[in-house]
Amino acid sequence: MLAGNWKMHKTIAEGKQFINEFLPLVTNETTKDIVLCPTFTSLHVLSNELKGTNVELGAQNVFWEEKGAYTGEISPVMLKDVGCNWVIIGHSERRTVLAENDLTINRKLKAALDTELIPIFCVGETLQERENNRALEVVKEQLTNGLKDLDIKQNGIVIAYEPVWAIGTGINASCTDAQEMIGYIREYLGKIFNEDFAKTIRILYGGSVKPENIAEFMNKEDIDGALVGGASLTPDTFADIVRFDKNV
Ligand code: 13P
Repeated sequence: MLAGNWKMHKTIAEGKQFINEFLPLVTNETTKDIVLCPTFTSLHVLSNELKGTNVELGAQNVFWEEKGAYTGEISPVMLKDVGCNWVIIGHSERRTVLAENDLTINRKLKAALDTELIPIFCVGETLQERENNRALEVVKEQLTNGLKDLDIKQNGIVIAYEPVWAIGTGINASCTDAQEMIGYIREYLGKIFNEDFAKTIRILYGGSVKPENIAEFMNKEDIDGALVGGASLTPDTFADIVRFDKNV
C-alpha cells in the first residue's frame, strides 16, 4: 500500500493537475492499494476525478461525532459521503501542533471503524524519546491507548509507523530501525488482539520516503507499504515510489 499525505498543500486546480499527470503513470499498478489524501476542500472534486480509477481517496483527519454543534469539524459519514474510503488518524503533526491525544485519537478511530472508513493510524516517537531509549515504550503506549476497546475486523485498519524525527527532515529511519519497530508493533498487536490479526494487518513506514529508498523499506519482512508526505506532491516522484522495483 502506498499512501500520499498532501498535508496542507495544493488548491483544487493543483490537485486536478496532479491527478491528470499521475493516473496514466500508475494505471498498471493494480495489485497495490494507492491512496491520495488531499485537503478537505479538494475532496469532492478529486473524488469525481478518481472514480473508476485504481487510486482511492482518503482524508487527513475526522471528528468522532456523526453530526451536531461542532464548528469546523467533519464527520466520518461526511467523508464516506464525499467518496473517502480511508482516513489518516493520529498524525504526529496533529498530536503536536493541534493538541490531539490518545483519548481523542481513540474516539476518532472508533468513529471511523463504525462508519467503515479504514483508518491509517499513525504512531511514532520523537527524537528525544528515541535518544532516551523510550521509543518502544512510547509506541506501545500509543497503540494501547489508541486501540483501546476497539472492535477491529481483518483489513479494517492500517498502522503507520512514522518516527517524528524522520518526518519532513530528509533523514529517514534506517530500514533496520524501521523493520525492528514495525516487527515489534506486529508482535505487540498479536498480544493485544491475536496472532492471525497481527500477521495480516498492514503496517506502513512513513518519514522521508523517496524513490531512492522505497525499495529498501519494502524489502523488509514486516513493512507492507509507505505513507509519503513531501514526495507525494509531485506526480513523477510519487509514481516512481508506487512503481518501486524490489530488485533495486
Ligand atoms: P515526509 O514524507 O515529508 O517526511 O512526511 C511523512 C509524513 O508525515 C506522512 O504522513
